Amino acid sequence: MKRILVIGANGQIGCELVEALSAQYGTDNVLASDIAAHSLYGAVHYQKLDVLDAERMEEIVEEYQITDVYQLAALLSVTGEQAPLRAWELNMDGLLNILELARVRAQAGHPLQVFWPSSIAAFGPNTPPVNTPQMTTMDPTTIYGISKLAGERLCEYYFLKYGVDVRSIRYPGIISYKSPPGGGTTDYAIAIFHAALQSQPYDCFLSADTALPMIYMPDAIRATMELMQAPAEQIRIRSAYNVSGISFTPAQIAAEIQRQRPGFVVTYKPDQRQAIADTWPDSLDDGQATLDWNWHAQTDLPALVTDMLKNIVVA
Ligand SMILES: NC(=O)c1ccc[n+]([C@@H]2O[C@H](COP(=O)([O-])OP(=O)(O)OC[C@H]3O[C@@H](n4cnc5c(N)ncnc54)[C@H](O)[C@@H]3O)[C@@H](O)[C@H]2O)c1
Repeated sequence: MKRILVIGANGQIGCELVEALSAQYGTDNVLASDIAAHSLYGAVHYQKLDVLDAERMEEIVEEYQITDVYQLAALLSVTGEQAPLRAWELNMDGLLNILELARVRAQAGHPLQVFWPSSIAAFGPNTPPVNTPQMTTMDPTTIYGISKLAGERLCEYYFLKYGVDVRSIRYPGIISYKSPPGGGTTDYAIAIFHAALQSQPYDCFLSADTALPMIYMPDAIRATMELMQAPAEQIRIRSAYNVSGISFTPAQIAAEIQRQRPGFVVTYKPDQRQAIADTWPDSLDDGQATLDWNWHAQTDLPALVTDMLKNIVVA
């Protein structure tokens, strides 16, 4: 039986992952945790946990007899640039703490399955931008991207050297309505809906033609769970899989919103986030994920826009 710990459960992905894992494995088998004292999303089982506190992490894993850990705590691309050393410490030591714990527990006969997300930020300006291959040049220029690339190498290292069953996805920008985004370069694709529903014009911080790989949250959660459920022998990538949802530009999502909400106005005022977006791919080749664990995205742009406009709650 699975006993699951989600670290960073108060975040954009964590809050929805806890819900989906609880539906699949039972609420009593899912423990949410975050650095905050309380769950922000009503998790039934919750512990305060700083991912940098390796001792407390070990205690919790032992006490709850945890079998699977989803380590989501991180500083993202924009917040990371504001505090590079803190981003490096949190993103690397948080991952190393869980990998080390998994190594020690595997040796003691209590293996932990680990999920840790990488990002399209692990690519860089010399990466082929269109249909970016699984294996390619990776020269990230943000501290966030550098930490994701280093994290991918650590995941593969712990698998090859110690047999730790760690799995990862290079998430595209994730679009969702339940929680605010955490400070990334793709956040415009959520903020734009808030403006549309408030009948306000939207000033987009990226240029109209900046294509980026994106994914709707239900697809991202399903990808995560399908990867974790796949038989170990099918997982041939132990760094991180390319997973593609939908690729679009600000102009394309604006046009789809305008089709469904006529009169919505968008202007374009690129800021420092444009320089980050310019180093990321336009679209991803996720053929390896399809081959290894049968990955297929389900949500296209019109369906995403319809669902966001229906569900997003404007403050
Ligand atoms: N959201 C995206 O579009 C996206 C895209 C690519 C990759 N990712 C990756 O997915 C993961 C989760 O992203 P998210 O968007 O949910 O981020 P988020 O910023 O919304 O959530 C991160 C959570 O981690 C918590 N946290 C921060 N420091 C902590 C600590 N020391 N100990 C424990 N918890 C701590 C925060 O309180 C927050 O609730 C990150 O690794 C991120 O890099 C996200």
